[in-house]
Amino acid sequence: MLRVKMLKTRHAKLKLFVPFLLAFWPGASHAADAIRGGELYATHCAACHGASGISIMPGAPNFARSEGIIRPDLFLLNAIKDGKNAMPAYQGILKDRDILDVISYVRTLN
Ligand code: HEC
Repeated sequence: MLRVKMLKTRHAKLKLFVPFLLAFWPGASHAADAIRGGELYATHCAACHGASGISIMPGAPNFARSEGIIRPDLFLLNAIKDGKNAMPAYQGILKDRDILDVISYVRTLN
């Protein structure tokens, strides 16, 4: 009888602890902010990829047609950090969370 009670108490504590952990765990708490991402996109990306995602620079993927973005966030994060040919590397220029915000904005352009 006592054991059952202890288990219940533990479970109740866990129920409180898990959301607490999720709320304060670095990274997990940050939902990407597409509005902030839009501002960063205008500053850093629009010159080549176009304000509305219709690319201006030849060879740059057209986000309005979902080119280059049907991939997981983590893949895109690394691609943007690394750069590729004429695409500049954003490692050291934008923080990971900034790039994730930009990605969430780019996903609204198609
Ligand atoms: C100077 C022009 C330029 C700027 C500025 C630029 N890009 Fe690009 N981007 C390109 C070009 C060109 C490519 C195609 C590279 C290739 O495949 O050779 C590209 C490719 C990409 C890809 C696809 C990568 C892949 O691996 O296929 C993504 C995603 C992307 N850019 C996002 C961004 C974001 C987000 C920004 C702003 C933070 C940005 N780009 C800024 C020119 C640019």
